[in-house]
Amino acid sequence: MKIAVCPGSFDPVTNGHMDVIRRACGMFDSVIVAVMNNSAKRCLFSIEERAQMLEKALASIPNARVEIFTGLLADFAARCGATAIVKGLRAVSDFEYEFQMALINRSLNSGTETIFLPCSTEYMYLSSSMVKEIARYGGDITAYVPEGLAAIIEEKIQGERNGDQHVGV
Ligand code: PNS
Repeated sequence: MKIAVCPGSFDPVTNGHMDVIRRACGMFDSVIVAVMNNSAKRCLFSIEERAQMLEKALASIPNARVEIFTGLLADFAARCGATAIVKGLRAVSDFEYEFQMALINRSLNSGTETIFLPCSTEYMYLSSSMVKEIARYGGDITAYVPEGLAAIIEEKIQGERNGDQHVGV
């Protein structure tokens, strides 16, 4: 049984993430989508909210499941018995950081290799930050996020504007 981990902060999940996850699901028997914290980013959504959105988005993919993990990715991959960490690359600008992460993760856990999938061209410009920026200025984000999530994201952005602490998914 070949297991892969698709890690990310997913704040929120976009169609670009879904493209990479779907392709990973075609390559591995089981894909664990790991919702994690990136210490360089301050997330809009709580880790539980991010996981709930992913669960909705992945409902029709039988060999993908969502887990929350707040420790090191290398430890999580070892605990899951994953042979691969799958990450999407949008542009050369992503590469330096991702390459460094791949080397660190392999030095922490030599049993897991990082595999980079180039994103599909229609998602080259897409990021969670862009989705939030569009929503903050009242733009339509339905084309950029999985079905059923645009309203949840817009509600959260509205809550942020009103100073709310928590908006349910
Ligand atoms: O979607 P992102 O923000 O690019 O995902 C980055 C993420 C969450 C995968 C990365 O920050 C991560 O692996 N965080 C967990 C802590 C860790 O293992 N850091 C790398 C070794 S120092």
